[in-house]
Amino acid sequence: MPRAAISSPAPITTAASARRGQNASAVPADPTAEPLGLVELPVGEWRVWVFVHGGADAPPLAETLSEMDTEVAPYEPERLVTAERHEYRVEANWKVVAENYNECYHCGLLHPELCRVSPPRSGAPFEGSGLDNWVGGWMELRDGAATMFLNGASGGLPLRGIDGPRTRRVGYIALLPNLLISLHPDYVMTHRLTPLGPGVTHVECAWLFAPEAVAESDFAPSYARDFWELSNRQDWSACESVQRGLATPGYTPGPLCEDEADVYEFVALMARRYLGT
Ligand SMILES: [Fe+2]
Repeated sequence: MPRAAISSPAPITTAASARRGQNASAVPADPTAEPLGLVELPVGEWRVWVFVHGGADAPPLAETLSEMDTEVAPYEPERLVTAERHEYRVEANWKVVAENYNECYHCGLLHPELCRVSPPRSGAPFEGSGLDNWVGGWMELRDGAATMFLNGASGGLPLRGIDGPRTRRVGYIALLPNLLISLHPDYVMTHRLTPLGPGVTHVECAWLFAPEAVAESDFAPSYARDFWELSNRQDWSACESVQRGLATPGYTPGPLCEDEADVYEFVALMARRYLGT
């Protein structure tokens, strides 16, 4: 079972309470006592995120994420400051949201602002993408664009660990099952997806900046927030449209195109997890 990113251990408590409630008369005086006690699940921390594993035989978290960490480590998310956080309710299945994140096939039609700072067909997959528990790749920034912003300027400071090609690209990583990590030269953005039902997803979007940038007297996260707030709304609208299409009696799965290679990898990884292989 894949690990899920969480913000607090609350889901564990919730699950255990529900189990006890199945037969209230059997609840012992000490609810932590065997055999009806709380179920202990493996919890691990990686950089700034907390993960819970749904089974008892979790492999070491650092080992599980080591290949992906090669791409994330230079951004040092553990030292960054969350300066902005938005929450959304998307009327679509969480996998529709994840698939949308994993392709820019839709960008030309949906995101004119994004296309002005980053060519939608640029970039390449990261080494190791699609092999185990994550899918990801990068896209270029256009000449004159310092980051993802409505006019391509940065209102922050470059992250201290970023140099070379990473100063001219944005990395996009989907870590199964529910954490999306977007790596910019001057900030890291995350989307945490929580299914509320088969057709509804809660999305928490957070923007993390260098502490020295946040300490500047004229710092404002709006330069990054406004860009992605617009793109997020455009994406949620498209996801909800896809969800409506999936729900129609005439829906038939179609082939994926060349620009949807990451979607194929995501779908294949999910299929393997559902099959338990
Ligand atoms: Fe999009």
